[in-house]
Amino acid sequence: MTAAAGEAPDIDEAVERLRAGGLVAFPTETVYGLGADARQAAAVERIFAVKRRPLGHPLIVHLPDAAALDGWAAHVPGTARRLAEAHWPGPLTLLVERSGRVPDIVTGGRPTVGVRVPAHPLAQRLLRAFDGGLAAPSANRFGKVSPTTAAHVRADLGADVDLILDGGPCAIGVESTIVDCTSDPPTLLRHGAVTIEELSATAGVAVIEGTAGPSRAPGMLESHYAPAAAVELVSDGVAAAARAAVVRAEGRSVDVLDPGPDGAAYARHLYEWLREADARGLEVLVVVPPPDTGLGAAVNERLRKAAAPR
Ligand code: TXA
Ligand code: MG
Repeated sequence: MTAAAGEAPDIDEAVERLRAGGLVAFPTETVYGLGADARQAAAVERIFAVKRRPLGHPLIVHLPDAAALDGWAAHVPGTARRLAEAHWPGPLTLLVERSGRVPDIVTGGRPTVGVRVPAHPLAQRLLRAFDGGLAAPSANRFGKVSPTTAAHVRADLGADVDLILDGGPCAIGVESTIVDCTSDPPTLLRHGAVTIEELSATAGVAVIEGTAGPSRAPGMLESHYAPAAAVELVSDGVAAAARAAVVRAEGRSVDVLDPGPDGAAYARHLYEWLREADARGLEVLVVVPPPDTGLGAAVNERLRKAAAPR
């Protein structure tokens, strides 16, 4: 099978690789994903092997449009339907009861499946040409920060991926918002570009914040999104300079990350900055977090995890 006539050669090749059980990294508006045909258990197993991700951590199934949701969900609650209509394509993942089509390996044996329709034009073209569901976690090794450029994917996964589609730097820079729609009211499990206020407005009910513990979303361990450098959070620039001076006096290499209050700009560059800290071999990164509004809440969730005890 080939893609629809007129597709760019790399989309054609990506679709062929995916149909043959291969792995294709592709850009989304949030971060790059490592995709496999969600219907082929052996292909999905390769994702876990390449990421070195423990089995049992469920994957998100990426779909071309909201109409595809019904094939993957056993039951779509009204809130999920409203959220999908309002925010897809976009940086929102919905947990719904899975249908019989979803292999166990995708959900870690759970009764729910995470689904999302990404907005990135290249992801859209890939999904439409593929005409199925792509199971895709972030295209990084387990526990490391997510890739926001094709070069990050290449540096992390290299030859372990069959093809990398380069769609430039990701516009948002942090992973999608995750909402569990099987609970009443729906529960926010991961902060992202779609805020809890927006979700409540479009769902028509107050979405509650989950205790995003391992019981709800096993990939959401406390220590995650972590660079090699120790991350220390401080309240402001003055405190950062003081703390950096202390660390330097101890003979350790240190720098301060204090990019200012713009949560969206912070999110867009966060993972690139954490990677740079590692590339420079920094032992400590002292970080001033953004205000906890808009994308700032998503950034702060990642920063807390980066700073958590390893
Ligand atoms: O923005 C994103 O969501 C990116 C792009 C590539 O779409 N993907 C992403 O995937 O961040 P991943 O695998 O790195 O993170 C998905 C999170 C994990 O914490 C996983 O445990 C949780 O979603 N998750 C997925 N399906 C779930 C389910 N059925 N139940 C509970 N948690 C689930
Ligand atoms: Mg990830």
